Amino acid sequence: MTSLRVTGLCKSFGAIKVAEDLSFDVGSGECLGVIGPNGAGKSTLLNLIVGLVRSEAGSIVLDGRDIAHLAPYQRVRLGVGRAFQIPQPFPHLSVFENVLVAASFGAGLSDRDASAWAMDVLGRTGLAAKADLLAGALPLIDRKRLEFAKALASRPHLILLDEIAAGLTEPEVERLVEIIATVKADHAMIWIEHIPHALRAVADRVLVLNFGSKVLEGPPADVMGSQIVREIYMGLTADDAA
Ligand SMILES: Nc1ncnc2c1ncn2[C@@H]1O[C@H](COP(=O)(O)OP(=O)(O)OP(=O)(O)O)[C@@H](O)[C@H]1O
Ligand SMILES: [Mg+2]
Repeated sequence: MTSLRVTGLCKSFGAIKVAEDLSFDVGSGECLGVIGPNGAGKSTLLNLIVGLVRSEAGSIVLDGRDIAHLAPYQRVRLGVGRAFQIPQPFPHLSVFENVLVAASFGAGLSDRDASAWAMDVLGRTGLAAKADLLAGALPLIDRKRLEFAKALASRPHLILLDEIAAGLTEPEVERLVEIIATVKADHAMIWIEHIPHALRAVADRVLVLNFGSKVLEGPPADVMGSQIVREIYMGLTADDAA
């Protein structure tokens, strides 16, 4: 069953086209990787899906329902969970309290259920031992884990990850990839990431965005080895590659 079907999505900021007739599907248990140069419109695509930016045309259908005209909180309640490119915890709340907020208001769980689910999520994301620390005091790897934990705690059908592995050391990337891979089976996932091996480990397909347009979509190895990606994403021409 298709969890997310985006069709004909369009958005401009002034003269800049950030989504140009975008269409794609993501099924449950599937991860769609998204790559593209800086400013291509990747984060804006996630903003359009969660409703922080409103589309000018097109539909965003989640589990059979068009959510394109709903408010962000309604989309969260219907199953959209998002990890931001820059982690956005409540710095003066503990790690547990941050996840509890998502379990309570995102997933809509009552007190006891929300606490139990928050502890479960902290265990899955490797944060159980840090539950009582202030979120603002965490190192980057744990802020990234917490960002993922908050998305997971809202009990999403669709998880949106925006460069969650950026800035981490290689062993930290590997640990995060393991955590993400363990939850993939139960969710549809869109993962924007610039680290090729991280995407190759988890993504089933990769979509390439450039100036808001889809220029390629296919198996990760094919897409990331393609000439068009070398040209637009890495700034290489055929002559450079020769
Ligand atoms: N709210 C906004 N208002 C005006 N312009 C915006 C807004 N959000 C993004 N933009 C512009 O739209 C373009 C796409 O931005 P976006 O953040 O989606 O790119 P990105 O592909 O995520 O880039 P990066 O790899 O740097 O994260 C950029 O030119 C950006 O400056
Ligand atoms: Mg971005």
